[in-house]
Amino acid sequence: MKSTTFFPVFLGLLFALFAHAASVDKRQSRGSLQQVTNWGPNPTNVPMYVYIPNNLASSPGIVLAIHYCTGSAQAYYQGSPYAQLAEQYGFIVIYPSSPRQGACWDVSSQATLTHNGGGDSNSIANMVTWAISEYGADSSKVFVTGSSSGAMMTNVLAAAYPELFQAASVYSGVPAGCFYSSTNAVDAWNSTCALGDVMDTPQQWGNVARAMYPGYSGARPKMLIWHGTADTTLYPQNYFETMKQWTNVFGYNYNAPQIVEVNNPQSGYNRTIWGPDVEGIYAQGVGHTVPINGTQDMIWFGFEA
Ligand SMILES: *[C@@H]1O[C@H](CO)[C@@H](O)[C@H](O)[C@H]1NC(C)=O
Ligand SMILES: *[C@@H]1O[C@H](CO)[C@@H](O)[C@H](O)[C@H]1NC(C)=O
Ligand SMILES: *[C@@H]1O[C@H](CO)[C@@H](O)[C@H](O)[C@H]1NC(C)=O
Repeated sequence: MKSTTFFPVFLGLLFALFAHAASVDKRQSRGSLQQVTNWGPNPTNVPMYVYIPNNLASSPGIVLAIHYCTGSAQAYYQGSPYAQLAEQYGFIVIYPSSPRQGACWDVSSQATLTHNGGGDSNSIANMVTWAISEYGADSSKVFVTGSSSGAMMTNVLAAAYPELFQAASVYSGVPAGCFYSSTNAVDAWNSTCALGDVMDTPQQWGNVARAMYPGYSGARPKMLIWHGTADTTLYPQNYFETMKQWTNVFGYNYNAPQIVEVNNPQSGYNRTIWGPDVEGIYAQGVGHTVPINGTQDMIWFGFEA
C-alpha cells in the first residue's frame, strides 16, 4: 500500500476506534456497576444500572438480568454470575431495579401485560432499546433472564416484547399473564397462581402470551425454563403451566416432548426438550429459587458452544 493511501486509512481507523470507545465511555466507566440516568422514556420510573466489562466486545451482546422480590440491581449484580461472565464474553449487563415497595415487579396490570402499554415491562424494554443504540450493541445478541419475580417479568417480556430478545432463561417463575389482576391492580400478588392452582390448556396459555402483542408474527426468543420440585413460593405446577405456554407459542406438542435427559445439566435435574426453542429443567428437591447456572445460560444464549 502506498503511503498516500495508507495514512488516511490509518487515521480513519484510529478515529473509528477512538470514537467507538468514546461512545461507550462518555457516560459509564467500565468494570463496575453504574447507574444510568437520562435515558428514556421511562413510564414507571424504573432505575437502570449497567455493567460494562473491561473486556468489552466490539458490537457487544446484552444480557438483561432481572432481580427477585426484595432485591435490587446491586443485589443481583452481586448475587448472580453475569458480570463475571460479561468479562469473559464481552457483553453488557443491564440490571433494572424495581421502583416498588417490596421491590417486586408489576406483572399483574394490563399496562405491564401489553406491548407498549406503559408498565414496568415497557420501561425495561425501553432500557434495552436505548442501550442497543447508545452502546452500539448487536441487536441479534440480546438476552433476558431473571429469578422469581424477575423470572415472571422475563416471561412477560418474552411475550410482550418478543422482537427484542433472542433467548430467555427463566429461574422459578410463573407463566406470562398468570399473575394477572382481575381488578387491574399494579404489582399485585396472585395467590391462586402462586399456589399452582391456575391450570389451563396449552392453547389457553398460548393465547395469553400472544394477546400481549396482538398481531405480532415475527421471531420470538427461545425459552429455557428452570423450576424446583420443592418450591413452596411459586408452586411446581407453575413449571408445567409455563411449559404448556411456550410449547404452544412455538407450535410444539406439550404432551410429546422430543426427549427427557435425566441428570442434565446436573444430578437430580431433568432436562425436557420439546424442540430447539423450548426446553425445561426440573430440579428434584430444589426449592425457591433454582440457583443460576451461568454455564448453561451462556450455552443457551449462544456465547458458548
Ligand atoms: C389470578 O390470575 C388468574 C389468571 O392467572 C386470574 O384468573 C385471577 O382472576 C387472578 N386473581 C386475582 C385476585 O386477580
Ligand atoms: C427424572 O426422570 C426420572 C426418570 O423418568 C424420574 O425417575 C425422576 O423422578 C425425574 N426427576 C424429576 C425432577 O422430574
Ligand atoms: C451447571 O451446569 C453444568 C453443566 O453445564 C454442571 O456441570 C454444573 O454442575 C451446573 N451447576 C452449576 C451451579 O453451575
